[in-house]
Amino acid sequence: MHKAGTNDDISFGNTIALMLQQITFPSGTVNYYFDSKVELLWELFATRQVVLITDRNIASLFPALFRGRNTIVLQGGESCKDYSTIVSICNRLIEFEATRSTLLIGIGGGVITDITGFVASVYMRGVSFGFVPTSLLCMVDAAIGGKNGINLGLHKNMMGTISQPEFILYDMRFLKTLPDTEWSNGFAEIIKYGCIFDATMFEELRNSTLAVYKTDSIALKSIIDRCVQWKNTTVQTDEHEKGIRKLLNFGHTAGHAIETLYKIPHGSAVGIGMLIACDISTTVNGLNANTSWQLLLTLTQYNLPTQIPINVPSIMSILRSDKKRNKNTIDYIVLTAPGNATIKPLPFNVIENALNTYESNN
Ligand code: GLY
Repeated sequence: MHKAGTNDDISFGNTIALMLQQITFPSGTVNYYFDSKVELLWELFATRQVVLITDRNIASLFPALFRGRNTIVLQGGESCKDYSTIVSICNRLIEFEATRSTLLIGIGGGVITDITGFVASVYMRGVSFGFVPTSLLCMVDAAIGGKNGINLGLHKNMMGTISQPEFILYDMRFLKTLPDTEWSNGFAEIIKYGCIFDATMFEELRNSTLAVYKTDSIALKSIIDRCVQWKNTTVQTDEHEKGIRKLLNFGHTAGHAIETLYKIPHGSAVGIGMLIACDISTTVNGLNANTSWQLLLTLTQYNLPTQIPINVPSIMSILRSDKKRNKNTIDYIVLTAPGNATIKPLPFNVIENALNTYESNN
């Protein structure tokens, strides 16, 4: 959720710079408009029927953006990422007389981009779609990669499609209204890229703080750009998550269960999940125990929690139905060193032990 107060609403008629980069994935090419302005969309798609999908928060903060345009405004929040929302959007699309050539544009955070991608993949068996990510987390992760998931009860992203958006447009002005918790959420994913792929980035993050990135727009753009490149390179190699793409789930296995059970922000849950994964990595993969400590300090520098009370049996019950489980093991992402991750099938008791250790240290 964005906060009100610091934006003047997005004004129209500005000179629009076009910073286009095309990235090709097995299932399609995505046009990336970096350092752009959302108004560019009206020029690019002037001759197409466009339906915008957003949430109440974005719609009320940027009313000029939606005025006079076909817009579907959702409640927002994880709880609306379900099948009933998909059905109601499809009904609204029928009311708008949307056809196979209609373009759906999701303007919002990860919930909006997931829902938009899912609806676009199933409405009339598939229409084009694009994203304008408005949160940092969405800019560095959720908008990228083509996975469009919705939840089924407690099971996060249990239903979904893999199809690439036609474009992703970055307008940094949206970050001006981003609340502190959302900045931290985004940095949890940025720290994740450092942990699994990029020791230099991990070091840079360790030596900096959230406050620095919030005021240094060049450093912020540069780190966003690196995360986008890491994610794209990974997804280009393994769009359907048969191998290397699984590394992006670092911290997310326990993290998703914790997020679902305790209704804490995604980034907070992923931060805790990364700490648990680091402890497991020390036990089963020879990771230097110092890395857990470095990670803990880094999370703190980005205002992410490192200690929350957990109930181990409840978490285990969710993990036993995780998409990544095998019969008696679950594919877990562990670190070998900062910037170097691998996938290990782990027996459930190894994870349970790590959760028990984390619980007893709280
Ligand atoms: N939409 C997020 C992903 O594809 O990973």
